[in-house]
Amino acid sequence: MGKSELRNNLRLPLALLALSFFLLPSTFAQDTTAAKPDPKKEEAAALLACAKAVLAGFRPIAPTRDARFEGKVSEANAVCRGGQQTLQFRLTPWVDWQQYWGTGDMSSLPSGFLSTKGPEFRGVTGALTDLEFQRIELIKFNLFDNSGTYPEFIAGRNGVGGPALKVWPQMRLPATDPNYKAVGGDGDQVCTGDLVRGRTVNGICNDVRNPLMGSTGMPFARNVEFETAFPDRGANVLTQNRHGGRIGLLKPDPQVISRVLLTRTQSTPDKCNGGFGLPNNAVNANCDYQKAPFFNVLAAYWIQFMTHDWFSHMEDGHNATVYIDVGCKTKLVNNVEVPLTPEDVKELGCRPGDQVDKTLVDQDSAPNTFTVGGKVYMARAAETFSNNNTAWWDGSQMYGFDDESVKRVKRDPADPAKLLLQPLPGAAHSDPVTGGYLPVLQPGDPFQPQWAGQESVAFPDNWTIGLSFLHTLFAREHNSFVTEFRKQAALTPTADSGLRDPSDPKRVIRYDNVTPDELFAAARLVVSAEIAKIHTTEWTPQLLYDEPLYKGMNANWNGLLGSGDPDVSKALSDIITKNFGKSKDVAKSTQWYSVFSSGPGIFGLGSNAPHYDITKADSINGGVNHFGSPFNFPEEFVSVYRLHPLVPDLIEFRNLSKDPNQIVSKVAVINTFEGKATDAMHDGGMANWGLSLGRQRLGLLTLHNDPQFMQNITLPRLDSPTKQIDLAALDIIRDREHGVPRFNEFRRQYGLRQLTSYDDFMDPAVRALPADAPARVQQQQAVDQLRQVYGTHVCDASKVITDAQVNEDKTPINDCLGHPNGSVVDNIEDVDTVVGYLAEFTRPHGFAISETQFVVFILNASRRLFSDRFFTSSFRPEFYTQMGVDWVTNNGPGPAMIEQGAPNGHVQPVLPLKRVLMRNIPELQPELSHVVNAFDPWARDRGQYYTLDWTPRADAVSDPAFKK
Ligand code: HEM
Repeated sequence: MGKSELRNNLRLPLALLALSFFLLPSTFAQDTTAAKPDPKKEEAAALLACAKAVLAGFRPIAPTRDARFEGKVSEANAVCRGGQQTLQFRLTPWVDWQQYWGTGDMSSLPSGFLSTKGPEFRGVTGALTDLEFQRIELIKFNLFDNSGTYPEFIAGRNGVGGPALKVWPQMRLPATDPNYKAVGGDGDQVCTGDLVRGRTVNGICNDVRNPLMGSTGMPFARNVEFETAFPDRGANVLTQNRHGGRIGLLKPDPQVISRVLLTRTQSTPDKCNGGFGLPNNAVNANCDYQKAPFFNVLAAYWIQFMTHDWFSHMEDGHNATVYIDVGCKTKLVNNVEVPLTPEDVKELGCRPGDQVDKTLVDQDSAPNTFTVGGKVYMARAAETFSNNNTAWWDGSQMYGFDDESVKRVKRDPADPAKLLLQPLPGAAHSDPVTGGYLPVLQPGDPFQPQWAGQESVAFPDNWTIGLSFLHTLFAREHNSFVTEFRKQAALTPTADSGLRDPSDPKRVIRYDNVTPDELFAAARLVVSAEIAKIHTTEWTPQLLYDEPLYKGMNANWNGLLGSGDPDVSKALSDIITKNFGKSKDVAKSTQWYSVFSSGPGIFGLGSNAPHYDITKADSINGGVNHFGSPFNFPEEFVSVYRLHPLVPDLIEFRNLSKDPNQIVSKVAVINTFEGKATDAMHDGGMANWGLSLGRQRLGLLTLHNDPQFMQNITLPRLDSPTKQIDLAALDIIRDREHGVPRFNEFRRQYGLRQLTSYDDFMDPAVRALPADAPARVQQQQAVDQLRQVYGTHVCDASKVITDAQVNEDKTPINDCLGHPNGSVVDNIEDVDTVVGYLAEFTRPHGFAISETQFVVFILNASRRLFSDRFFTSSFRPEFYTQMGVDWVTNNGPGPAMIEQGAPNGHVQPVLPLKRVLMRNIPELQPELSHVVNAFDPWARDRGQYYTLDWTPRADAVSDPAFKK
């Protein structure tokens, strides 16, 4: 290695090391009384604090779970990164970094300082360092596999620590699998040949040495200790003490919670009509909802589209055949559960007759236990549930995940490399450039009766207009890739396509030799990777609209170095996969792997190893890291993606060929349910629906914001007296069925600070407002309602309630949560996780989700990249074709396009979804030319640095959505 190469190799580790200097133990006494000094003094004080922070040295990674970081830094670090104003905030339960300089809009930069550059740098890099610290601790403390590997994760195997293990017997294909012999039968199992070329239908052979990992039907994992799951069973003394027998499947009553805490209040109920709007989609319909100014309805549908790729508890649209009540039966009066009176039922608007099919259970026999170091562990959770989808980010909602779903994926007989898209005969709208529409399910296709009349896709459940839009868009994108490939093949038929067959690796596959099946498989890889890139670099930075998350998400994909210095990235990628990825040392293979991968980025890790050989497992699988726990989503991940409040009741429909600034009708989402979505799509056309979903703001994830129509939805599949269900209540019931811990323990398990009363939900800045300030009144009302629904009790300080954390003085946390023994305390421990995360009024700037949801995401969003061979070491032309690699890298055909100006100070490529939309719905190009991020409401003026202002861009001032 030459000197300059060595220097290059060291540059990032050193930079990371330097960053780490800002992370220090909390050894400073808290002083919250200091008055705000003048800017010069504050600047000096901040610099002094930085010096103190550096002198105090590194903060160690927590040796045990009760010594975790909790997102709280020392006073010196806080002042260094955000000045005096961070000190008061340190006393709250919420993570510190949201107060650092530069992490909000312009107002988060200090005023009166000689330069804002230094503080901004310290603030933003400080936030990134805190986030990396959280990720390392999450990897260390929050992986709990349910498929039988957990005992080895704790005990290790043959002297290798559990987190450094890479292969598990539980991930072998069973003898009943049709590919059992092909992967090696009862000998060593390694996938080869056709099984490794692309994404398989049911997800086997992504990890070639663990063929079963992530495939359809594998159990959901957990991110919380097994003992903590299913708290209502009171299986151990800690859960008994924590909840005092107060909680159960229907306790507190989920429909009562829904109606009191989650209902959208309506100023003009007649014009909303329970979410159905007015006849003929009249434009004067109105359903009030709380709107997020920086995120559009397309983004809401995007995440539903994603969850249909990642997971499903249901099997082909159904649950178990047993039906259960879903509440509207009891309420708390003076902390005693009493039956609801008919008047209560009327006033609440709930339905005691509703029933729902129970969730499907995989295993519910008593789990084994094992003992390591004198401690007894459960080998899995008390119950497990199958993920009936592939856990991979493989476009399975489009391309299929089992033998049945794949039959709904229609290929074009004229070119079987393409998906079937058809023109619309006699469509009412004008859609001059028709990329085609998905075919409708036909008799003979495998589908549930309720899906009749819908477009034919692999995952057809809960279909409404937005899913119709996104499925059609990405089917068009699939075909765009094939078309471009065919063009190139016509131009250079004998040129090397880059593709290789591992069964015949020496054979150069020329463009004209690529078969339709090979091209279909390559297009699937490209579209899936594009989707992952959109999600990572476009959706998430708009969901979490601030500078640290922009940098953090781009680091996950491109690395902190960006694409600026590809040689450094390559060298680092190699160092990481070789030295850390293969290491048997637990710290190297987990925490250092995580830190250092921020350099080159996770995407493509291991893909440029020297002597890469597609016949060798070491090459094609060499870049993945599962951190000792086979990859699948945890139940807790599903819980934090129950995002039903994102959906508005009414879509403001616009017509591109008339005036995009005009709302011409209001279409109820429920009137686009199932087959009606297909009709609505055919009537409105892709361009108009794109415009409408792109311009409208989505619903804030907060209390009192669940759609009206969802609380009263009729599900044809239900064999119950009312056939109706309150989806907000069902979200709560499902989490309880799946044993998701309640909110406060959920936070402790994830290394976040607990709350000690309902009042803690209030934003400290709002609490400081006068008592009659509207924001304070609103939050106080929510706190009162939480108290009404969940209640209070007299606490007993002798009862320890958790072992996940301890108090600051190292004493165990008890039932009184710091309040005097025998006092009346809030039943904060009982709050359902869904309710708790919606009640978080304190959030980092631009966060559409709460910090509790976000922490789940920090862990799992990077894991699903780290674990997937096709996003790491198999991101190569041999699998994707050379055109495919370039397409994913450059966001489409040809070289990368650069966005105009420097949005939020960044010179950046035109983002991938914007390009997908422009490519496949060219009618939208003029509208999109002003748009930077396709998930930011399209007519919003992005203004200065991360503003959340709701103001129109110059040509949209007449848009009624901007009326005050
Ligand atoms: C737009 C209209 C939507 C409708 C009609 C709808 C309907 C439903 C229904 C009926 C269920 C199944 C409940 C059960 O039996 O367990 C469900 C589950 C779920 N929904 Fe939605 N939903 C919609 C939008 C969304 C959105 C925007 C998200 C955002 C991520 C979302 C996330 C989920 C999740 C995570 C589940 C649980 C899935 C599972 O357990 O595997 N939904 N939804």
